[in-house]
Amino acid sequence: MNPLMKSMLTPIARINILSFFIISYFIITVVPGYGQDKTSTLKQTPEELAIEKKIDYLLGQMTLEEKAGQLTQYSGNDTVTGPLKFVSTQVEDIKKGLAGSILNVVGTENTRELQELAMENSRLKIPLIFGLDVIHGYKTLFPIPLAEAASWDLAAIEQSARVAAIEASSAGINWTFAPMVDIARDPRWGRVMEGAGEDPYFGSLVAAARVRGFQGSNLANKNSIVACAKHFAGYGAVEAGREYNTVDISRRVMNEIYLRPFKATVEAGVGTFMNAFNEFEGIPATANSYLLRDKLKGEWNFNGFVVADWNSIGELVINGLANDEKDAAQMAIKAGNDMDMVTGAYRKYLVELVKTGKVDIKLVDDAVRRVLRIKYRLGLFDNPYKNCDAALENQMLLHPAHIVAAREMARKSIVLLKNQEHILPLSLNIKKIAVIGPLADSRDDILGFWSAQGEGKDAVTVLEGIRDAVSPSTEVLYAKGCNIDDQLSPVYDEAIAVALQADVVVLAIGENREMSGEASSRAFISIPGRQEELLDNLLKTGKPIVVLLMNGRPLAIPGLVSKAPALLETWFLGSQAGNAIADVLFGKYNPAGKLTMSFPFAVGQVPVYYNHKNTGRPEMPNSDRWISHYLDIPNEPLFPFGFGLSYTTFEYSNLKLNKATMKMDDSISVSITVRNTGKYDGEEVVQLYVRDLVGSVTRPVKELKGFKKVMIKAGESLDISFTLKAPDMAFFTKDMTYKAEPGDFKVFVGTNSVDCKEAVFSLTE
Ligand code: BGC
Repeated sequence: MNPLMKSMLTPIARINILSFFIISYFIITVVPGYGQDKTSTLKQTPEELAIEKKIDYLLGQMTLEEKAGQLTQYSGNDTVTGPLKFVSTQVEDIKKGLAGSILNVVGTENTRELQELAMENSRLKIPLIFGLDVIHGYKTLFPIPLAEAASWDLAAIEQSARVAAIEASSAGINWTFAPMVDIARDPRWGRVMEGAGEDPYFGSLVAAARVRGFQGSNLANKNSIVACAKHFAGYGAVEAGREYNTVDISRRVMNEIYLRPFKATVEAGVGTFMNAFNEFEGIPATANSYLLRDKLKGEWNFNGFVVADWNSIGELVINGLANDEKDAAQMAIKAGNDMDMVTGAYRKYLVELVKTGKVDIKLVDDAVRRVLRIKYRLGLFDNPYKNCDAALENQMLLHPAHIVAAREMARKSIVLLKNQEHILPLSLNIKKIAVIGPLADSRDDILGFWSAQGEGKDAVTVLEGIRDAVSPSTEVLYAKGCNIDDQLSPVYDEAIAVALQADVVVLAIGENREMSGEASSRAFISIPGRQEELLDNLLKTGKPIVVLLMNGRPLAIPGLVSKAPALLETWFLGSQAGNAIADVLFGKYNPAGKLTMSFPFAVGQVPVYYNHKNTGRPEMPNSDRWISHYLDIPNEPLFPFGFGLSYTTFEYSNLKLNKATMKMDDSISVSITVRNTGKYDGEEVVQLYVRDLVGSVTRPVKELKGFKKVMIKAGESLDISFTLKAPDMAFFTKDMTYKAEPGDFKVFVGTNSVDCKEAVFSLTE
């Protein structure tokens, strides 16, 4: 490109072109097989049959103690969760081949040292597998998963996982404890930030995309890491949204809502599963053979391995299911739990349990086979040090291509919730901008929970992003205003003084990164501390205010929403948060994100989700008192599933079905015209929902069945069409068979789960 052309490009166009070249180069040269067939890496190919033979041989060589060791995972201390603050890596066990896996040890130097201990000292030289929570990036952090889901861009989500895998694998990691595919309907539960939201159809697509991204085209690739679908299952349904709490849901709801994304990961070839802390039907997931044996390993034919969540085997005692750890080990292995994370119960008791006839050796052999299978598929037997290349680690962490990808993903994850009088986008030539708020210059919080090896020093804050974006003549003023969790009213004088000088105020408020994620349930899901009061004080200045929300969950903030003139949901966007936010604030990128979890009007509505049942007394226009409603708040959430605005506007018209009736083996085409009626080119996520009007069991009022994210130029129209087939309408019928039933259906197409055009069709035998 000649220098003149280069200077004519906007900074963003330059980034796009640069990113295209870097990513293409990177994909072609560094990511073998990217873009090729990415279907299951776990099919029985001739190579895999050969692996089974090698496993037969190895199993024949292993002592019972070595088998128990293979099913044992120890934690290093690079990063830990859970009540057990530190567990040593049990060097002697590693040397004797009595440990199968290590978690929480990172960096090629460290993993190489441990791998050498195993390979140079143990009798059978079985390599260790190194696991870590690589949830939304390793060193270059991408947005938290709930934010990424709001992009509705599956290719981008897959790429985000790919980048995470490339970095983590370069730093000694073979295995990530992700994706978390728990459906979440309760925003009090802090772990909603790790998933894709409330919808099982959408959650399944995201789950599969993440698995493909982590695992790449082949687990044996140097830059593939094996994924782990977690937490199996029903963890998202913890009562009252309280972390680690009990769960009580029906088998029908478990199958129809919570299990679907897990099944999708099996279909995408996921190599491992992690069980959950909660119980199902009175049996903790760790000991639940319906989930692990009947469903996962039986019906779904999963042939990877299951790891227990952190000490969940030990917790069977506290749960009141097992008498002691020995009892717990027996229950867990029988139920189908293959590897023990940190409890040490398999290591201590499996040998005795087999010798005394309490546990069939076949169960132990099957579990070991599964672990070895994944190690073989990862290519660890061929090269135990495949992920221990210090030079590659150096080259890959914070690679420029990763930073470009992180910025793009972050922009796509932002949701415009309100834009009164078109305050946004802001002009780049504003004279003075006041950037205010406890999160405006916070570099750690924007990384979000589960930040692996990401560091604040590598992140771009909102203040920095804005400073970098504006023209040289723009003055950027800053004041913190208050802390995130101030209890007493702080003095807002400085913030007010700064706001008074400015033409526009950008206010960054919300949660800190520790307020969502594991063990971060909240009962009041409003903006913590006195931050809303800060907004009230700033509003008195009469200046236009753009509020940037940062949070890891939907918030119940009706007051704030009515007050704030413009509102952007920016979640925790990762290393490039500040740049991405500036791109959106100044219109270099037109926001197109849509919520994948409803924002409640008040905590009292929770759980609130779009695909609820109708009840016998639904609220209707002019309904009387004796209906399903609240006396004090609306039934509707503050923002529904699928909601998100753009700087432009879209008009939907002309919803058409190509037929009124379809047979079970037929399909129906649903089409609609979407017109960009505003001034900006923009992307829209066109959403398709269906309602089965009468079923052998009651059906939800709406269910997402498809979506398309399309770019439409200002003033132009696009015809969008979807195809529906009978299996799209399948559900667990009265006798729990999964099929579609004949009958009448409503189809909805629209910009979110509420604002839709409607039509009807019938399905016949
Ligand atoms: C979490 C898991 C995580 C594991 C290892 C547990 O406390 O529930 O999601 O993978 O710790 O860090």
